[in-house]
Amino acid sequence: MFGEFGCLIDWASYDLYTGGARALSMLRVVGFALVVSTFAACQKSKPDSVAARDAAERQYVIGLSQCNLGEPWRVQMNADISKAIAAHSNLRLVAKDAQNDSLVQRAQVEELVAQGIDLLLISPKESAPLTKPVAEAYRKKIPVIVLDRAVEGDEFSTFIGADNARIGLEAGKFVVRALGGKGNVVELKGLMTSTPGQDRNSGFRKGLELEKNPGLKLVFEADMQWLEPKARTEMDAALAREQKIDLVYAHNDPGAHGAYLAAKAAGREKQMKFVGIDALPHEGVTYVKQGILDATFLYPTGGAEAVENALKILKGEAVPKKIVLGTRVFTRDNVERGGEEIR
Ligand code: FRU
Repeated sequence: MFGEFGCLIDWASYDLYTGGARALSMLRVVGFALVVSTFAACQKSKPDSVAARDAAERQYVIGLSQCNLGEPWRVQMNADISKAIAAHSNLRLVAKDAQNDSLVQRAQVEELVAQGIDLLLISPKESAPLTKPVAEAYRKKIPVIVLDRAVEGDEFSTFIGADNARIGLEAGKFVVRALGGKGNVVELKGLMTSTPGQDRNSGFRKGLELEKNPGLKLVFEADMQWLEPKARTEMDAALAREQKIDLVYAHNDPGAHGAYLAAKAAGREKQMKFVGIDALPHEGVTYVKQGILDATFLYPTGGAEAVENALKILKGEAVPKKIVLGTRVFTRDNVERGGEEIR
């Protein structure tokens, strides 16, 4: 298929081509054939190019279902989406905040669909309860982009997010190195009914290689549901039970910070290391610079990629079913250099 630009180039090269002397008449015949076929191709492609232009000019309403706006990382995701939307005059955003309640989120998705949105972006709180409303929207021919936390099955257009199992694995390897293969570890898990919690846990356990490192012990684990105050309470319990804690791995930076505050209140923060995930510049990366965290792993929001792919889908272009975003690690050694990419 030729785009409008493709047709222009073909016409121009034809003019140059036929500008030669009479001795090239044979080539002229070939040239004529080219003109005819190019003209035919342009004629044939015209409806496509018109359709593409119309698609670019048409106004679209994008619905955004965000599971909560109580955490800095989610505020950042919404800001990234709004910024990318603002760069396109034909896109309008209708955003809803489910306030960390899967039933509210489910109702909000249904409301957005009933409103007549052209595409749905969703970052679901939990997989199971959001699977059905997402599938129902998709069956109604509304394209759906799922962000960061997955739903079950494959009834959506594309999933965009970083590889949480890989991040967990790298965190596990970092912990083995940081402790020289021995010590007592606490794991404060994200919500285990959400896929990042499950993957950050399974990846971490692989990275620890406990069978190869018998001196490493997981002495305490708890689900802090991604929430800093809950992490602090769980860490209070860990500190009360365990006399020796060498490192806390939390599935996000608010969790790691909550654990740090609990240890500090007990006067024990200097006896242990803290590792988190997210690496927002004004949160985890700053904690590393301040010496609060030993490491944090970047968890990109995917907001810009979501809008980029939404536009492609709205124009009828194919997008991959899964788009995996990269990560970086920020440690005390590399934080001033902007961290290090994990390949
Ligand atoms: C925010 C958050 C992040 C975490 C992500 C996982 O709600 O808890 O801190 O990386 O969700 O989905």
